[in-house]
Amino acid sequence: MEQYAIKGGNPLVGEVEIGGAKNAALPIIAASVMTDDTVYIDNIPDVRDTQVLLKAMENIGVFVKHENRHKVTINGANIHSLVVDDEYIRKIRASYYLIGALLGKYKHAEVALPGGCDIGCRAIDQHIKGFRALGTEVYIEHGLIKTRAKRLVGSHIYMDIVSVGATINVMMAAVLAEGRTIIENAAKEPHVVDLANFLNSMGAEIKGAGTDVIRIRGVQKLHGSDYTIIPDQIEAGTFMFAAAVTKGDIVVKNVIPKHLESISAKLTEIGCELKEADDCIRVVSSKPLVHTHVKTLPYPGFPTDMQPQITVALALSRGTSIVTESIFENRFKYVDELIKMGANIKVEGGDTAIIDGVPKYSGATLAAPDLRAGAALVLAALAAEGLSVVEDIHYIARGYEDFHLKLQNLGAQIEVVNSERELQRFKLKVG
Ligand code: UD1
Repeated sequence: MEQYAIKGGNPLVGEVEIGGAKNAALPIIAASVMTDDTVYIDNIPDVRDTQVLLKAMENIGVFVKHENRHKVTINGANIHSLVVDDEYIRKIRASYYLIGALLGKYKHAEVALPGGCDIGCRAIDQHIKGFRALGTEVYIEHGLIKTRAKRLVGSHIYMDIVSVGATINVMMAAVLAEGRTIIENAAKEPHVVDLANFLNSMGAEIKGAGTDVIRIRGVQKLHGSDYTIIPDQIEAGTFMFAAAVTKGDIVVKNVIPKHLESISAKLTEIGCELKEADDCIRVVSSKPLVHTHVKTLPYPGFPTDMQPQITVALALSRGTSIVTESIFENRFKYVDELIKMGANIKVEGGDTAIIDGVPKYSGATLAAPDLRAGAALVLAALAAEGLSVVEDIHYIARGYEDFHLKLQNLGAQIEVVNSERELQRFKLKVG
């Protein structure tokens, strides 16, 4: 099994180029089947989740051609099955975006229930509520969500909770429904806006994406498009925190600073210096880090996908910090791993971490419990004294392209090892 071997302790310095946003790419790739015309999508991150989704689409007859590592041509004119179920698709959460896309186009879709990271119960009741409001029959059978409608008819939908997935799924189906749909209490994440922009580039009529209320006027059909995905807010934030915890100096390039405001604000609060330009942010960490409090919230609040990374930094910051997770119920599993490295963290009630900062971490063998926590443990290992091994790195490959290579470029001592022998070789090399 592949693992990361990491020798921590040196500051990360240099420039890193951020790729396309995974969480925008997934719905955009799914939505590209909603027309029979050809669609070109650029800046797709080459990560496991996007690879799996593209494969699943090929399996139902979608034409997919990789123009280069980040650009694909997609044509959904010859789809031969509206049942999407294979052993891979069950492992990724975003498989369910094919429901909204296929239901919109064909008024029928059956897709395996989603997997994804084990970060708590991830209900889909709001997706189902939205589909039903558009006139769809929805039921769950043999591990599949089955949807069918005679006609999709626009509706006024109030989301009971703010859900990225439900907003996206209902928006896709509503684009090809008859009449107007209003989604209230919609998610406002940059990837929701990116999908709306993509659908509008295909001829959809969506207004208000990025606000609480999305208004959609249904159209009869969509046409082809040539579209470039926005940069990944979470990949950028992860490298920004890599600078913070290693006392480094990193220029994070190809980002939209506006999307990073909540992350930048917290880094400044804990003692980093930030300099922003049009499409890059430099993070310098030269002073001791200081404590703060943070609560994860829907955008524009602090993202839950950055919660493990900020916890890694706060556990090295002077004073007591409190991190409150308000989106997912099981997102502190990695804390036990940080404790192995010397962190002083107590999780109370499942949603609150009380952190007393320690001066340093010591290297340890760590298991990545999910995608973002896995990346955060790598940051902890890079900050730690001595050698660490991070196991289960397949989680990290779900969402970070070339993670260890980008870190190596910044001076990190990190390698993928496949065996005890390779690990020993790494140890000899790093001394
Ligand atoms: C997406 C992101 C994920 C991110 C999350 C929150 C993708 C592929 N994943 O996940 O990285 O952490 O947004 O920003 O884009 N909920 C319900 N009923 C529903 C839907 C959701 O109760 O029908 C709950 C969930 O259990 C969770 C909360 O709402 O507690 C937020 O979930 P949601 O915004 O839907 O997250 P995802 O779309 O799954």
